[in-house]
Amino acid sequence: MPAIDPHPRSPLDLDFDTMRTLGHDVVQLVAGHLASLRQQPAHTSLDRRSAEAPLATPPPAQAVAWPELLATLRQHVLPHAAREPHPGFIAYVPSCPTYPAMLGDWIATGYNFFAGVWPIAAGPNAVELLVLDWFRQWLGMPAGSGGLLTSGGSNANFTAMVAARDAAVGDDPARIARLTVYMSDQTHSSVIRAAWMAGIPRANVRLIAVDSEHRIGCDELAAAVERDRAAGLIPMLVAGNAGTTNTGAVDPLPELARWCREQGLWFHVDAAYGGFSVLCERGARALAGIGQADSVTMDPHKWLYVPFECGCLLVRDPRRLVSAFSIHPEYPKDVESDGVDVNFADHGEQLTRRSRAIKIWLSLCYFGLDAIRAAIAEAMERATQAETFVRAAPGLEVLSPATLGILCFRARPLDASDAAAADARTERINAALNADGRWLISTTRIRGALALRICPIGFRTTMQDMRELIDETARLAARIA
Ligand SMILES: Cc1ncc(COP(=O)(O)O)c(C=O)c1O
Repeated sequence: MPAIDPHPRSPLDLDFDTMRTLGHDVVQLVAGHLASLRQQPAHTSLDRRSAEAPLATPPPAQAVAWPELLATLRQHVLPHAAREPHPGFIAYVPSCPTYPAMLGDWIATGYNFFAGVWPIAAGPNAVELLVLDWFRQWLGMPAGSGGLLTSGGSNANFTAMVAARDAAVGDDPARIARLTVYMSDQTHSSVIRAAWMAGIPRANVRLIAVDSEHRIGCDELAAAVERDRAAGLIPMLVAGNAGTTNTGAVDPLPELARWCREQGLWFHVDAAYGGFSVLCERGARALAGIGQADSVTMDPHKWLYVPFECGCLLVRDPRRLVSAFSIHPEYPKDVESDGVDVNFADHGEQLTRRSRAIKIWLSLCYFGLDAIRAAIAEAMERATQAETFVRAAPGLEVLSPATLGILCFRARPLDASDAAAADARTERINAALNADGRWLISTTRIRGALALRICPIGFRTTMQDMRELIDETARLAARIA
């Protein structure tokens, strides 16, 4: 380590020992939190007024003592949240980051790397190129594909949509107004919003009906494209799903890729949820063909066990990104890319961007890929096992079988002809389960029926947790009318 400067010259600078002490306190706090998760509730919340009231002071003119600040956070802020990395947090899409990944994020923060252009952060940018290439290989995309790490899946989907628009019609407003995009009605809202933000008229976003397994109907898709062409519109992009948020459904990726190529359509795959399941055998089988896409969104902050915020976009031809996003104002002339170095600011909307790659690299290398692979495989197995438990419970029924780590089920309706009563009962069971403290689960609709939905992908969740959750649901189903 270089020699320590014993005399910081600004009051905002801290001496080495103080930094170490403060950092140690934070490590104590976070490590204590993580190591005691099972003893904590999975979720606690507060109404807005109660949450704001104890914090509502003007910014202090004078320094407040560090222990007092930590005490305020401990008392009034940190407890009032869902605990995403908790073993019982199986609602929505859990984010359960490894500790080395958290530290990687902190290293990137501590060094405050500016990962927008190559020469300002060559080392961190090289790590980003490395992890992007790992992802490319896992997906089976061709060499030369590239992209960037983003704030999340929403931003990655948006970046893909803008690149596709640029490739289709450049910036011709008359032609942009005629663009149409296609996706199944199970597609995540961020893809729809991405189209809106990219200037595709809202009326031109086509949501295609799905089959009994929640996969896009290819005939309906082809008919919609044909209709739109006949009406003088310009079909631009099909967004396939590699793991829908609702049920984990995977669209027929190879067929869609082939058909889009024939039709001259950009084929984007939203694999924000399911993408990293390719690391295990079952996931790789489910996602076969994903590497043929023109672009793929993945979210390391979901199933690669790194903390928020970390999404990723990979594009078969990264020149499409440069064409859509690069802009050359006067002041960063010194750092323009020479065509070999990669300026990630030319690949998306962010100029100032943190290094998100270090946390990925540190976590993967600390544990080794086999451990991550095993965690993903076990997560899928937990959902499958939970399905077996549901099927064995006479009072429960499966609404969507375990698919890529997601299971939807409910209490068997007491009166099959009364859908509203069945939904109301599901609401009550969901509320009772979540009041327990051991779990946070969520609901969704499957073919119109309200369902309990679980996504047990966090690595702290166990098979025993599944057993207890389904047993408890069965007990509640017997009690709640
Ligand atoms: C399938 C899918 N796509 C996109 C997104 C949006 O990703 P993010 O929340 O990281 O922006 C999600 C989020 O859950 C998702 O499940």
